[in-house]
Amino acid sequence: MKKTVKDVDIQGKKVLMRVDFNVPLKDGEVADDTRIRAALPTIRYLVDGGAAVTLCSHLGRPKGKPDDALRMDPVAERLSELLGTEVKKADDCIGDKAASARAGLKPGNVLLLENTRFHEGEKANDDDFAEELAQGADLFVNDAFGAAHRAHASTEGVARLLPAVAGFLMSREIEVLDHLIANPAPPVVAIFGGVKISDKIGVLERLLDKADTLMIGGGMANTFFLAKGLEIGDSLAETDSLETAGEILEKAGDRIMLPVDVVIAESPDRPEGRKTVAVDAVPGGWKILDIGPETVKQFSDKLKEAKTVLWNGPMGLFETAPFDEGTRAIAEMLTRLDADTYIGGGDSASAVNGAGVADKMTHVSTGGGAFLEYLEGRTLPGVAALADAS
Ligand code: 3PG
Repeated sequence: MKKTVKDVDIQGKKVLMRVDFNVPLKDGEVADDTRIRAALPTIRYLVDGGAAVTLCSHLGRPKGKPDDALRMDPVAERLSELLGTEVKKADDCIGDKAASARAGLKPGNVLLLENTRFHEGEKANDDDFAEELAQGADLFVNDAFGAAHRAHASTEGVARLLPAVAGFLMSREIEVLDHLIANPAPPVVAIFGGVKISDKIGVLERLLDKADTLMIGGGMANTFFLAKGLEIGDSLAETDSLETAGEILEKAGDRIMLPVDVVIAESPDRPEGRKTVAVDAVPGGWKILDIGPETVKQFSDKLKEAKTVLWNGPMGLFETAPFDEGTRAIAEMLTRLDADTYIGGGDSASAVNGAGVADKMTHVSTGGGAFLEYLEGRTLPGVAALADAS
């Protein structure tokens, strides 16, 4: 258990708060504000409690220098709308610009610093950079569960320089995922999709010990098809992971379920020519872009028995309709189960949001890599650095 904002005095304090505002942008605007909304309870608590709040976050993956496409201005704008109060924005996260913006803050004010990854010191977890971020603050609050697997200056370094506690989002993620790891009600079904096996090997292996059934869809299934000797036409696959896929197949035995039919097209841009075929009938030159209806039925039948479901990664090219149908069908199926449902990973969270069913899930994690690493049993540096509750 970690200390939270509730365990410390915040009245009149200057608070540096790390948030994960790494949100998708489109045409200069925030395209999905889930992560911003998720941090609101902690921000509001600090504001209402009389703290002066300086927020910091990374956005995207700039290369340690400013990148105009990844400035935090659209995020500050969206946050202002959501909070219903002006959020000031500083044009840097350290140095004179940041210092003067922070110096002027009064209790109840909120300031958003510029993208922390505009400086190399952030990813290098550089001490001087961390000290500049911490400067003038009385307290560090970390609500960035999504970035807690990174040992960066704004997630780990500053926590060594200031009293450091968790925000409500961070503590809720830890509490819920700890419960999922320690006490999942059986039978447990894990659904995995997305493109790469290599990003998820650790958690897949761990789940082989924990889950009663492992369902695989999305591009990841193609690598399993190849490992079984099936033809996949021009579909995406990860040939470097063929051996791993083979080992997982062997270890899981009949606990693994792969798609039995798939939706294919010659190109995602020509959905009108798509067809559904059995997995052993994918013609050369075609691409697998979604799971088929028989697979949805088989997965759904098995899911009806589940008491705990964990889902990471879409079942197909869900951002391009109509190849989102398999993913949507699974999302909707989950709402009808008498089971605890845990969703993690940016794409899966978008899928349940897109299907309008996020509020029917037990927990939709704001973490992508952090969610997977936590389930794998790894220590997240951003969590480890926070003070323990007594
Ligand atoms: C995420 O989107 O998973 C987090 O914000 C971490 O981003 P990163 O993978 O660029 O460190």
